[in-house]
Amino acid sequence: MAGGQFVGVLACNWAFVFATIVTIIPESETRLPRRYRGVTAIYPGSFDPITNGHLDLIQRGSRLFDRLIISVLRNEAKQPLFSAEERMEMLCEVVDEYSNIEVDSFHGLLVDHARTHSATVLLRGIRAISDYEYELQMALMNRRLNPGLETVFLLANEAYSFISSRLVKEVFSLGGNISGLVPPSVEERLKRRMSKLRKKGA
Ligand code: PNS
Repeated sequence: MAGGQFVGVLACNWAFVFATIVTIIPESETRLPRRYRGVTAIYPGSFDPITNGHLDLIQRGSRLFDRLIISVLRNEAKQPLFSAEERMEMLCEVVDEYSNIEVDSFHGLLVDHARTHSATVLLRGIRAISDYEYELQMALMNRRLNPGLETVFLLANEAYSFISSRLVKEVFSLGGNISGLVPPSVEERLKRRMSKLRKKGA
């Protein structure tokens, strides 16, 4: 076979392979990550309050899993700024448009809560290497408690990787600007809560 003919045959074969791939994978499914079919994932946290970093992870999680349950930890020992009910309300307000997202709360072991929802995945975000050790400990402990429950980590969006609920509260209480760091409805709630606390303190 002459050199030119050989290249022609190769090009022809690649065109066939490409056409086959395009036929097998419908166009709509090549644009978005394929959802893990039938998987219920739990995204647990304190969410005191929800930040745009949490929201980004929630949006990405809802594209990955069929059902995503955001589970608010009820732990009064942590002395949260907002009650579990208020935190759930804030979450419900911002995830209202997503049909596969639910909001719930829990106390006690996370693995027990996951079992009540037949969840097989725990979703957590990692912002920086400093998160890794804490997350690793939790993931390994949860795996020991229930080997059937897999922890899946998503890297935080770099635009939000410096945000934490604790920092947002600190900056806001000292008069700093937090717009763009939390959803507007959450900023409103923070304003109301802080002015109530100031009045109480005065
Ligand atoms: O937003 P946070 O505070 O980092 O979330 C921490 C959370 C809620 C995921 C973690 O404290 C938790 O899972 N608590 C439940 C208690 C539990 O199951 N502990 C044992 C496994 S680590």
